[in-house]
Amino acid sequence: MQYRRLGKSGLQVSALSFGSWVTFGAQIGDDVAENCMKLAYDRGVNFFDNAETYASGKSEIVMGNILKKMNWDRTSYVLSSKVFWGGKKPNQIGLSRKHVMEACHAALRRLQVDYLDLYYCHRPDPDTPVAETVHAMNVLIQQGKIFYWGTSEWSAERIIEAHTYAEKNNLVGPTMEQPQYNLFHRERFEKEYAPLYEKYGMGTTIWSPLASGMLTGKYNDAAPGNTRMERDDLKWLKERMIGAESGDKIAQVKVFSSLARELGTTPAKLAIAWTLKNPNVSTTILGASKLEQLEETLTSLDALELLTEDVMVKVENIFQTKPA
Ligand SMILES: NC(=O)c1ccc[n+]([C@@H]2O[C@H](COP(=O)([O-])OP(=O)(O)OC[C@H]3O[C@@H](n4cnc5c(N)ncnc54)[C@H](OP(=O)(O)O)[C@@H]3O)[C@@H](O)[C@H]2O)c1
Repeated sequence: MQYRRLGKSGLQVSALSFGSWVTFGAQIGDDVAENCMKLAYDRGVNFFDNAETYASGKSEIVMGNILKKMNWDRTSYVLSSKVFWGGKKPNQIGLSRKHVMEACHAALRRLQVDYLDLYYCHRPDPDTPVAETVHAMNVLIQQGKIFYWGTSEWSAERIIEAHTYAEKNNLVGPTMEQPQYNLFHRERFEKEYAPLYEKYGMGTTIWSPLASGMLTGKYNDAAPGNTRMERDDLKWLKERMIGAESGDKIAQVKVFSSLARELGTTPAKLAIAWTLKNPNVSTTILGASKLEQLEETLTSLDALELLTEDVMVKVENIFQTKPA
């Protein structure tokens, strides 16, 4: 495993990390979740990602039970949660001081830990002043309940507002962003966020490196079934990836899959290695519904050396998604 600094912070995160969206407490059994976490940890993964909204809190309960059972040294791993979607009632959603504090307490209970290493604002909240959220996060840091706070899918403008406010008031600004980043989805990470890396030293923990499994090539011929695309709650994702709104995606992945095979690797590994070729990626969060998937993707760092300049050009030509 390779370890990278989370931006300018002193925290080291494994280049490959493991998350629980769709899977823990929903798509997969707790035994599969446990085996996946064990495998990840044994292979050097030190960051596990979660959120209050994943399976409506069940994902944190499952992960918390596994962490308790494994009894790994708490200093050996980095654990996260995210606040935003806690429920349907007013004050159960968003980034008010009330919800940020209450959601953190609830996540600590569900995960059965004393503190979270990383705590994210899962989306921007237009109805709460950024200053209120920055203050709430700083209170949690001072109380020792969280160590670093960050954002997920905020605009660069809003992140800069948070940094500016924090600097002026001697508070801790966001350490990391959690954006989507994969061969189909690059604009925000590579262009909009460009000023954040250098000027503010922000780290990134990127999500959906395989575009929800698309980039493995498993949808190249026919939908294989028994995947997240079949879930009723993810119909929008299916439309976007393999349905009416998918455009040329499958055709592109077919060419990409041939390239991977020519290079002696798999499309999944090549796509994940491609994210890590970007030095602004601190960690790429993997997802898996089966142990074999993780067995494969945890070896993705092997494919980094295959991404020569020549191959990078070929990849650009296939997807043509490089921001102008
Ligand atoms: N902050 C945010 O807003 C946000 C949003 C999304 C995700 N995340 C985080 O990022 C993590 C990763 O995102 P993601 O799960 O969307 O990542 P992803 O890598 O794009 O998709 C993972 C899914 O692809 C399929 N897959 C993975 N490896 C495979 C392999 N070797 N062969 C065939 N299929 C394979 C599996 O789904 P099937 O078996 O069902 O096909 C797996 O669950 C999440 O768990 C979560 O922690 C954060």
